[in-house]
Amino acid sequence: MTQRSPVTLSRIFLCQQDMIVDGSARGFDPHAEGRDTLFVVRWRGVLRAWLNRCPHMDVAMQYRKDRFMSADGQYIVCFAHGALFRPDDGRCVLGPCLGQTLQQQPIVIDEDGAVWLVDTPAQPLTA
Ligand code: FES
Repeated sequence: MTQRSPVTLSRIFLCQQDMIVDGSARGFDPHAEGRDTLFVVRWRGVLRAWLNRCPHMDVAMQYRKDRFMSADGQYIVCFAHGALFRPDDGRCVLGPCLGQTLQQQPIVIDEDGAVWLVDTPAQPLTA
């Protein structure tokens, strides 16, 4: 029987939760890659994080810093081709990737209102 080493979870600070108002989003570069690789949306009071990668063509979605939402704050938008995604489940409801979904990223909010990305390092494959 193969013994797996325990998965080590780490947290990466993103922001204070009150920095994102309802119907808006902020982009983050948690792994210092020089670009915002994920974004956090507050929609109907709930914060969710999504990978900043459109399922249509594997590109970043914002048209400028922190602009991930439609003007009415009801949808996440990919500004490359105008695809609209529901902010609660990330499903595309209009556009070339209809029915596909964004990849949600795990976050937690601590007792001080800090938002953290829960980072799971890739595990080596073992036999
Ligand atoms: S790349 Fe996002 S809709 Fe085409």
